[in-house]
Amino acid sequence: MTLEISEWFQNSIPTTIFTLFFTFTLIFSIFSFLIFISRMKLWCNCHICWSYITMNWAKEFINLSDWYTHLLKKSPTGTIHIHVLNNTITCNPQNIEHMLKTRFDNYPKGKPFSTILGDLLGNGIFNVDGVSWNFQRKMASLELTSVTVRSYALEIINEEIHTRLVPFLFSFSRDEKVFDLQDIMRRFSFDNICKFSFGWDPQCLQLSLPVSDLAAAFDTASKISARRALSPSPLIWKIKRFFNIGSEKKLKEAINVVNKLTEKIIKNRKEIGFSARNDLLSRFMCSVNEEKYLRDIVASFLLAGRDTVAAGLTCLFWLLSKNQEVEEKIQEEVNRVMNPAHEYASFKEIREMHYLNAVVYETLRLFPPVQFDSKFAKNDDVLPDGSYVTKGSRVTYHPYAMGRMERVWGSDCRVFKPERWLKDGVFVSESMFKYPVFQGGARVCLGKELALMEMKCVVVGLIRRFEIRVDGDNQELKFGPGLTASLKDGLMVRVFQK
Ligand code: HEM
Repeated sequence: MTLEISEWFQNSIPTTIFTLFFTFTLIFSIFSFLIFISRMKLWCNCHICWSYITMNWAKEFINLSDWYTHLLKKSPTGTIHIHVLNNTITCNPQNIEHMLKTRFDNYPKGKPFSTILGDLLGNGIFNVDGVSWNFQRKMASLELTSVTVRSYALEIINEEIHTRLVPFLFSFSRDEKVFDLQDIMRRFSFDNICKFSFGWDPQCLQLSLPVSDLAAAFDTASKISARRALSPSPLIWKIKRFFNIGSEKKLKEAINVVNKLTEKIIKNRKEIGFSARNDLLSRFMCSVNEEKYLRDIVASFLLAGRDTVAAGLTCLFWLLSKNQEVEEKIQEEVNRVMNPAHEYASFKEIREMHYLNAVVYETLRLFPPVQFDSKFAKNDDVLPDGSYVTKGSRVTYHPYAMGRMERVWGSDCRVFKPERWLKDGVFVSESMFKYPVFQGGARVCLGKELALMEMKCVVVGLIRRFEIRVDGDNQELKFGPGLTASLKDGLMVRVFQK
């Protein structure tokens, strides 16, 4: 009997411990979950949050950024707070200098951002802080500022313009076709960034070929990732991801395509050798071995270099179509500076085109390809305008709104006026914190010079031959959700040969 009791006791101890452990874990999890929920501000009755949640703002404004501009304009400090997003948004240059430079250490990308973009960008430069960011930044800046790499990029860009973009537009002008300029510019910049980053030509701008699988998958993945960031709570997309349903299922599929294709490109590059090649991937491969890391680096460059340039160019041609006197002035400058016997403008000639440079800067002031950009506060802080920032909250600077602020750019801030950048015909730049289109401070865009050069080469290459005119009544530009500004319905244009 004593033996039976002791046996029963011995057998039941593990079960009891297990049950206790399970119950404790369950209670602890529920308790933690409730604390988590209670800390999140999922609901707020103030009129701004109410308008955000119900999307009431859309009755009055065509773009979310226009509504933010309106709110920021009304704010005496140029800073607002959206409670449901726990998001401080500012267009105050002093605040921007504070977060991007003075207190850079307190405003990293942060965990929430890297979780949102982690599936697509992994540990690529856009998505990391600290040591990994430092390493990639040093490597990439060595590459992107080297004269060899810049000349290599210029060669690629000019070849793409003259062998693809120009023939493409000739065929459209001949057939008097209406087409989507945004789509063409995306194909153009995707070809360029792939050739430049991987030494691989996806041939997106070939008349006969459909958009590459990689371009389409990358598009889907960045759109869905951007939508994650707009959600008041990450819980919704995390649950969808856990059960692999809806948009999260699509995201997973798109990322699989991106992964497979980038893996193939990396393997191929390893097989054919990389030490003597000029593309960015080959250069990174000399110091990085791990395939996943290489893939992540490459994905960040795809994101950085494709849609940003395409968005800038699309808006530039929309503005030129509406301001034809500006187009004439560019043409005059090109005629004056460029050797008429040459097909392409040289580095030196591009540098001498101050008016063209002013046109590009002015376009990006009004239509920045990255309309807003967020960081997460590491610790509590007070911004120079007195706004209190709590630890863990999102802090966003808003270049789109800044370009429309009288207190930043004067009473003609909404006018497209390249002359504001010129003094006696010479281009004069502005503080990066008044013009954070390429960000500013320690994480300033590494592709800035390359992007400006690409945009200017396209303008020179096209306006010597064509007039590009917006079709129909496109009075305002309507943007859809995305990591970079993209026109919801594209930009339909006609092209005429000069
Ligand atoms: C008009 C075109 C472009 C604009 C407006 C632009 C703007 C920006 C902005 C706002 C950031 C900061 C993003 C953030 O930290 O969240 C950034 C970062 C970056 N950009 Fe660009 N960009 C452009 C083109 C390019 C191109 C063509 C490349 C490369 C080939 C490039 C490479 C990078 C890289 C590597 C970073 C990350 C820098 C870092 O985190 O240290 N960008 N860019």
